[in-house]
Amino acid sequence: MPHQPRRQFIGLSTSALAGALVPGPVKRLFAPPTAEITVHLTQSLGEIAPTIYGQFIEHLGRAIYGGIYDEQHRQFRPDVLEKVQRLRPPLLRYPGGTVTKIYHWKDGVGQNRPVRKNLIWGGYDTNQVGTDEFVQYARLLGAAPFLTVNMSTGTAEEAADWVEYCNATQGYYAAQRQANGHAAPYQVKYWGLGNEEAAKEDAGRLQDPRDYVKQAWYYAKLMKLQDPTIQLIMVGDKPDWNQQILQELHPICDYISLHLYANSKPGDPASLFASIAEMEVAIKTTAAQIKALTPERVTGFSKWYRFPSRQQPVKIALDEWGIWENGGKGAYDLEVDYTWNHALGVATFLNIFQRNAAVIGLATWAQTVNVLAPIMTNETTSICQTIYYPMELYRRLCGPRSVAATTTGAATLDVSASTDGKTLTLAIVNRDSTAAITVKINAKVAGRWIAHELNAPSVAAMNTLQAPDTNVVSYKQRTLLASATTYTVAAHGITLLQAAL
Ligand code: AHR
Repeated sequence: MPHQPRRQFIGLSTSALAGALVPGPVKRLFAPPTAEITVHLTQSLGEIAPTIYGQFIEHLGRAIYGGIYDEQHRQFRPDVLEKVQRLRPPLLRYPGGTVTKIYHWKDGVGQNRPVRKNLIWGGYDTNQVGTDEFVQYARLLGAAPFLTVNMSTGTAEEAADWVEYCNATQGYYAAQRQANGHAAPYQVKYWGLGNEEAAKEDAGRLQDPRDYVKQAWYYAKLMKLQDPTIQLIMVGDKPDWNQQILQELHPICDYISLHLYANSKPGDPASLFASIAEMEVAIKTTAAQIKALTPERVTGFSKWYRFPSRQQPVKIALDEWGIWENGGKGAYDLEVDYTWNHALGVATFLNIFQRNAAVIGLATWAQTVNVLAPIMTNETTSICQTIYYPMELYRRLCGPRSVAATTTGAATLDVSASTDGKTLTLAIVNRDSTAAITVKINAKVAGRWIAHELNAPSVAAMNTLQAPDTNVVSYKQRTLLASATTYTVAAHGITLLQAAL
């Protein structure tokens, strides 16, 4: 949308201001509405899975060693832990990523852990962090653990042994866990069968979907025979790959995975939003495939499998999503600096997840520390990048059910709405880098709106390790006028408006 002329009305009477969501004294600058948002409370878009707010950590560069874990002192970094805890991820994915293709879980448990070359990302993995430490970290965060199994240099037996190590009370590997000091099973529910197996460049061996289907059945059977309650995330990719996966694996496929990384064109930060819009198209295309190719309930599943079929409709697992810009530092240039524009992108992504709540079962941001990450470290300190703040705010405020909200009049606005039945939360992102937008809001609410506003001085603003005590991101909470029907979203602003129903 072209920028609206910013007409200003100064010194209007209180009654003239009564319709504006602008609190305080009479002298205020505001503009007439140029856009309209209508919330359709009775039009549910589905339950928002709490697991859409997950995180991902991989044995990659400084993500684990130098990120969440301090190898020298053999402990989790407390400064990083405190920051990840504030993000409250309900789900944590590990150990990869592409590294899954060379990762052997048995290297990372017990007393004698081999140091292995990280063939995928470079450097060496001391295996000081393995399954037990990962589960411990997930518990410190209150997150459910999500493990991905090696389908390239590993075997189905190795994957099933891992299920036993994590989830069984008896057996050779369950006894190993107990001997390692962990009496109770870990109850790992989420298991990814491989990672990006379609990727031709990777050291995988299942790049033809027919090979993946064959192996996935084999892995699934052995793993489900160990624990029939586990949920399986199957690798997705482009629609032609997904079609075969859904057709052939749907009786045992709880989730089909999509990896969505947006980016912008050099020198054109606003192009990020077109890239993110393509991600919504990919979600909708996959949703349509799930609908067309998989029944909601599986019938006629032979008892001779000796475990039950999938019990719920197939959902999408966005088990890697994020913003991947060129020009980062560190291993494979993956240590990316995020500007405030990227934070607007994160909020847009989260709106997309809410709008498509009916089909998205889980999502884990790739990644957590140092690698494409909301948190960056050096040897002595750590910071939250701009993208951290919308993640934290959405997780804290959004409701568990998505409801429809339509917008007219401003293409740079992106909106979602959610509720817990008592409170309406309206998330508004103004991706316009220079112009505020005044919005007329049509929503039946009982109480005053409370505005939770995030912003930064410009779309280019960044937090850096060079100035660790400076936070460019501002957060304001204010209660708006009781009779308010319009609200002005600042240029490059993210607002979560809340009101009682
Ligand atoms: O998150 C970084 C990498 O991106 C992951 O290892 C891989 O799965 C994806 O391509």
